[in-house]
Amino acid sequence: MTAQNDDFFEGKRPWSIIKDEVLSSYMPPYLAKVNRLGRPIILVDGFAGPGIFDDGSEGSPLIICKAAQERAAGNYQAFFINKDRKYYDRLKGVLQRGGWQHQAIPILGDTTKILPLLPPKLSDQTVFLYLDPFGPTGSPFTLLEPFLTRSKEYSTEIVIMMHIPVAHRLSARRAIEEGKGSDPTIQKFHQTMSNIFGGDYWKSIMFSSGFTTQERETQLIDAYCKKLEKYLPYVGSCPVQEGKNERIKYFIVFASRHPDAMVLMNDIMLSAYSKRMHKDAYAGTLFEGEDWKDSIPTKGLKEVVISQVKEYPGLTREDLWAKIIQRHFMLYRRADFIITVQQLVDSGKLNCPTPRKTKRLNKKCVLFPSEN
Ligand SMILES: C[S@@+](CC[C@H](N)C(=O)[O-])C[C@H]1O[C@@H](n2cnc3c(N)ncnc32)[C@H](O)[C@@H]1O
Repeated sequence: MTAQNDDFFEGKRPWSIIKDEVLSSYMPPYLAKVNRLGRPIILVDGFAGPGIFDDGSEGSPLIICKAAQERAAGNYQAFFINKDRKYYDRLKGVLQRGGWQHQAIPILGDTTKILPLLPPKLSDQTVFLYLDPFGPTGSPFTLLEPFLTRSKEYSTEIVIMMHIPVAHRLSARRAIEEGKGSDPTIQKFHQTMSNIFGGDYWKSIMFSSGFTTQERETQLIDAYCKKLEKYLPYVGSCPVQEGKNERIKYFIVFASRHPDAMVLMNDIMLSAYSKRMHKDAYAGTLFEGEDWKDSIPTKGLKEVVISQVKEYPGLTREDLWAKIIQRHFMLYRRADFIITVQQLVDSGKLNCPTPRKTKRLNKKCVLFPSEN
């Protein structure tokens, strides 16, 4: 482990706060839903850490165990893998003290070697895989593939932290510009990139010109999401950075077979991200106390709703929302969408023939473009 990583568990950094907020907001509703499937639930935290940071804050294993105990008690098994004995030992103690030792199993070993042992043992279980390595080499595509290719009948969800600065280093763009592409070290780096992303599609993005670094990063993650989408159709990502003008540290990427995951993640990721950006921009200023929700834009939402209703006439409000976030993930909040649809129907710009007692729309109301 590098010195840089050694202080990781001293206390939560702003970027850890975003990912933990996403995980702790997502796990309870996710577990409540999948518990209703009536199948055993397997939760795997591939890069688990000690469970509790030095400053007392809780890491992913505790977030997962608490939610599982609350929403799926008696119907789950959680596995927490750590390569470093000191974190494995600390986590073991934390799980024992919490009384989770029967359902939550710490494993000492290398995730890239241990995780491939799991898929052959799976049958109809519901599986949630959380991968939070220190860098993208911890989650090569071949590690995900056996989970991505599970039968469509079973529930499989994956959440990965995809680190970005390392991807730049491995792409070695400058070396390519200097004509050093055949250098064996560069070739090795590029093979690592292809292993991580599951193909060499990253090259045309990372070596393209006319884009900013951040644009290239977003294109890379979008392409990665498109790749995941071939297996699990509902995919999205959230950039994690300290502030709007800071470099992106990693993207939280999720992939699921169920649209509900995307609907939940849209609002959860947008809230966690906006809260952090608001804090970075206004902490210590007169605007600190302003509501961060006001910083989430609604610009363009009306036009998006109208164009999607034209493209998919007759969808329920709920299905329309899923269509919108599939195309514009993390751009709008569900609450703003509901207000907007109501305004569009009230003003006659959209038509809703669904019989209802009041003018208020509900999620089952179907929507059509206005005939005017
Ligand atoms: C970013 S931290 C995870 C933090 C954790 N998710 C939390 O919220 O506390 C990465 C962890 O993975 C462990 N690790 C690194 N490489 C590993 C590997 N190949 N297999 C298993 N664990 C590994 C590190 O020791 C470290 O505890």
